[in-house]
Amino acid sequence: MKAVEIKNLSFKYEEETSFVINNLSLTVEKGEFLCVLGENGSGKSTLARLINGLLPCTDGEIKVLGVSTKNKANLYEVRKNVGMVFQNPDNQMVATIVEDDIAFGPENLGVPPAEIGERIDFALKATDMEAFRYHQGQRLSGGQKQRIAIAGALAVKPQILILDESTAMLDPKGRREVLSVVKKLNEEGITVIAITHYMDEAVMADRVIIMHRGEIVKQGTPHEIFSLGSELSAYGLEVPRAVYIKNELKKAGLPISDNVLTENELSLELCKLFQKV
Ligand SMILES: Nc1ncnc2c1ncn2[C@@H]1O[C@H](COP(=O)(O)OP(=O)(O)O)[C@@H](O)[C@H]1O
Ligand SMILES: [Mg+2]
Repeated sequence: MKAVEIKNLSFKYEEETSFVINNLSLTVEKGEFLCVLGENGSGKSTLARLINGLLPCTDGEIKVLGVSTKNKANLYEVRKNVGMVFQNPDNQMVATIVEDDIAFGPENLGVPPAEIGERIDFALKATDMEAFRYHQGQRLSGGQKQRIAIAGALAVKPQILILDESTAMLDPKGRREVLSVVKKLNEEGITVIAITHYMDEAVMADRVIIMHRGEIVKQGTPHEIFSLGSELSAYGLEVPRAVYIKNELKKAGLPISDNVLTENELSLELCKLFQKV
């Protein structure tokens, strides 16, 4: 069974005339780490909301773990399986104290009180936030707040986690904290759909798709996508800095490996080159 199976999905907002998702088909495997790239307005958030049933699927079909979102009676199950984390760390907290915030999701789903404590333990551990259980959420850093938002999503025990630009408002340290938690969760088996416009975040994905005007215009491994070079600008995206520098060095005649995607790989590659000189 697939984590998510989308067939010929089209969507327009009520009272709007144009479609913002256009005949889109996509399959996400269980355990996959999928990165969704695309410029503002390309339909990424709309797609995320359709997948977990926050928006109605009227045209085409979406199945989450085999369950269609078309039938309203299924939406409870779908939402339980798809945890969502949004962009703004300040908008996602519903309670003052961290543990109450994490308890909110499972409580709403009717998880018995005796089990809620276990869910909080599990979610805090998974996000490396155990030390903050009794802290006030609003006093945490952006990265910590997003980890609590992830913990809140995890407390519902979803099999799929969708992050909609969840690192966009964080400083570099906060981004690193959140990304390492997400990577670990994926390694432990959770399916991740990460929406971002940071190209360098796409490096950790198994597969990258590029959305443009409600369609998937490219997909491939991070390496394949970054190799598109200047073609990316047609979709409002930029080549990652490390790849740009690598390309420039190649043009200048340096025998630098084509596999360089990240700044770490670039510095290693440069070290190797200069040792040879
Ligand atoms: N609630 C809404 N009502 C009407 N149009 C919307 C709404 N939300 C988004 N849109 C429009 O849908 C398109 C896709 O938006 P969105 O899915 O938010 O893109 P992205 O997340 O890639 O920036 C945009 O043209 C946007 O203006
Ligand atoms: Mg968006």
